Amino acid sequence: MLHLKLQILSKIVRLNASKFNLTLSFFGLASLIGRLVGKVALITGGASGLGKATAHEFIQNGAQVIIADIDSELGPQVAQSLGPSAYFVPCDVADEAQVADAVDAVVTRHGKLDIMYNNAGVTGPVYPPSISDLDLDKFDEVMRINVRGVVAGIKHAARVMLPIASGSILCTSSISGIMAGLGPHPYTISKFAIPGLVKSAAAELCRHGVRINCISPAPIPTPMSVSQIAQFYPGLTREQVAGIINRLGELKGAHCEDADVAKAALYLASDEAKYVTGHNLVVDGGFTCFKNLSFPSQDQVV
Ligand SMILES: NC(=O)c1ccc[n+]([C@@H]2O[C@H](COP(=O)([O-])OP(=O)(O)OC[C@H]3O[C@@H](n4cnc5c(N)ncnc54)[C@H](O)[C@@H]3O)[C@@H](O)[C@H]2O)c1
Repeated sequence: MLHLKLQILSKIVRLNASKFNLTLSFFGLASLIGRLVGKVALITGGASGLGKATAHEFIQNGAQVIIADIDSELGPQVAQSLGPSAYFVPCDVADEAQVADAVDAVVTRHGKLDIMYNNAGVTGPVYPPSISDLDLDKFDEVMRINVRGVVAGIKHAARVMLPIASGSILCTSSISGIMAGLGPHPYTISKFAIPGLVKSAAAELCRHGVRINCISPAPIPTPMSVSQIAQFYPGLTREQVAGIINRLGELKGAHCEDADVAKAALYLASDEAKYVTGHNLVVDGGFTCFKNLSFPSQDQVV
């Protein structure tokens, strides 16, 4: 009976989301029905890994999710597996026109865009490791997706959010954007750019009621990180490589999972973070908080 009542209430709320949002929080019902009821979210790189996990979390919380991804084979399959609250639009974030089209398609269909998650990214080549051998064309490729693609996402989300003075923009950085030496040079450089461009955009957007934040996760065994680390361990299975990644953290008794990023994104996207903007939410179990001094043992001291 309670289930049926909640289903009916949920349906009413979806139809009249803006009117009911206040009522819901007043009665403390938002957490029961979902923290993103009535919201429309576009997630780039949503066909895999962290984007897919976030799409699932957003849908569980009542959002309609549009997966924008370059992978036109996997994208529709993932959207279908997520159910009727998800659909796919093809989009290469390196091409501004495709980002603009994806945003416009969402606004045409739903009349608005509440949440834009600029999450698509690539690691780029691991070899050659030295900056003295850096291939600048490969560097440009990484920057085109990881930085230019995010800027394009912010630009076109702002284009539709500013006139209504409402919206939440998210971006994915990394612990590679906080400490150097954790990834290849182009990836590190691209991820350092994200918290900076989030602050730059926040400086303007906050005056218009639009929030923008980023998330910096620790290594998580997604297809991207597994295929990157596997290059150092030829012959190991996917599970073995995932195990290596899971043991890279510092926080005892836990490892970083895609769901941790999805829940961070849920918080930042929701009205619970209504006064949070320009922020970098680091999801790393303390990894970037410290570095131990490597003192020699007594017998090593000459
Ligand atoms: N997995 C990790 O350990 C980790 C840690 C920190 C940050 N990140 C960041 O998280 C984000 C997601 O990575 P992931 O680990 O989920 O990787 P993933 O490879 O599982 O997913 C990335 C998705 O982005 C899509 N994509 C790639 N290039 C694209 C483009 N040009 N246009 C549109 N879509 C494109 C891919 O098709 C894929 O679906 C990336 O920005 C990555 O840098 C990942």
